[in-house]
Amino acid sequence: MSAYILGIESSCDETAASVVRSGEELVSNVVASQFATHAPYGGVVPELASREHLKAIVPVVRQALADAKQSYESLDAIAVTQGPGLIGALLVGISYAKALAFALDKPLIAVNHLEGHIHAVLLEERQKGNHELKFPVLALVVSGGHTHLYLAAQKDSLWTYETVGRTRDDAAGEAFDKVAKLLGLGYPGGPVIDRLSPFGDAKVVKFATPQIKHADRNRPGEWEPGQKRVDFSYSGIKTAVLRYVEVNNMQDAIAARRAALQKIAKPTLEDYRALLDKQTLDLIASFQRAMVEDLVSKTLAAAESYNAASVFVTGGVAANQQLRQRFEQSAAEHGLPVFFPSRKLSTDNAAMIAAAAYPKFVAKDFAPLDFNAEAGLRL
Ligand code: KG4
Ligand code: ZN
Repeated sequence: MSAYILGIESSCDETAASVVRSGEELVSNVVASQFATHAPYGGVVPELASREHLKAIVPVVRQALADAKQSYESLDAIAVTQGPGLIGALLVGISYAKALAFALDKPLIAVNHLEGHIHAVLLEERQKGNHELKFPVLALVVSGGHTHLYLAAQKDSLWTYETVGRTRDDAAGEAFDKVAKLLGLGYPGGPVIDRLSPFGDAKVVKFATPQIKHADRNRPGEWEPGQKRVDFSYSGIKTAVLRYVEVNNMQDAIAARRAALQKIAKPTLEDYRALLDKQTLDLIASFQRAMVEDLVSKTLAAAESYNAASVFVTGGVAANQQLRQRFEQSAAEHGLPVFFPSRKLSTDNAAMIAAAAYPKFVAKDFAPLDFNAEAGLRL
């Protein structure tokens, strides 16, 4: 049965809508980014995010339908992100999706954003004709808000997820953003650090691999005693970068860079390079390498201990070029297939929400019109 599902995503700083056919064909994909709104503040301002979503939601959905050559009436279901995310931002997408579902008398499907990131990979693999994924899948969801490892399996049409790892403190994308902000590089930091890293020497600054020593930092009841688990931790590396900046008296150069970049509406790679000295480029490259090595080595160690048959890497940080290269290299050495979404579907989008909704559509797992946004929703 062919089903056209409209996905709506508004959990953070992207207003997105997309039409996906039966979880396997991306028909349209519209993303309105709020980078320009939040950039002057060096991070997402929740109140501004809600306001921008309100402005963008109607035109973005209209555009997604027009691109898909679909009408409101021809859709089979409406899917929307329930959480996790910013509560005010989520509510914009949810209220709009509810109103559409009610007015059109179409099924409404609530989707977990993290499940969406995993289904971005599945959607694109199916679209390429790959229907033979090997289970269990170990999925690393690595974004601005999350660094989570899940064992994913499929029972009948529905998916199940077991959490086997997570960050104890900052998410990996958060570390990229905070380090970029610290070095006067603006927001969001991940893409800038990604583009600048090849110009520095990653061997110059040594960062200690984050070690978790205190088992008692686990939240009560979260892990079974004796259960294997993987811990990530990225707040230490951010502090190490700060210390390096202080010890090497880099603050004045950073302030000058920040001021110079604020005057440029859309800085190019050349603009950044003109404002960066070798020491800072080496620091950036060293930071990125430490992040990448930690993510790759822990994920592949987990794949081994859980006997995973394939690895997914998804979420905003999965757009990182060095991360993709290192994962491909190391996974090949381990004899494991590794899958990423295209870079466009790595960061937040609504195609992943419409794709994750399809198994729920088949199972008639619909949401009541009074379901709530959940800022801290877990998978
Ligand atoms: O998945 P996403 O769009 O939103 C969340 O769900 O958080 O991820 C955004 C995060 C930001 O922290 C951003 O800096 C990071 O992903 N990011 C990157 C790259 N592109 C986006 N990090 C490293 N390299 C990139 N190329
Ligand atoms: Zn995300």
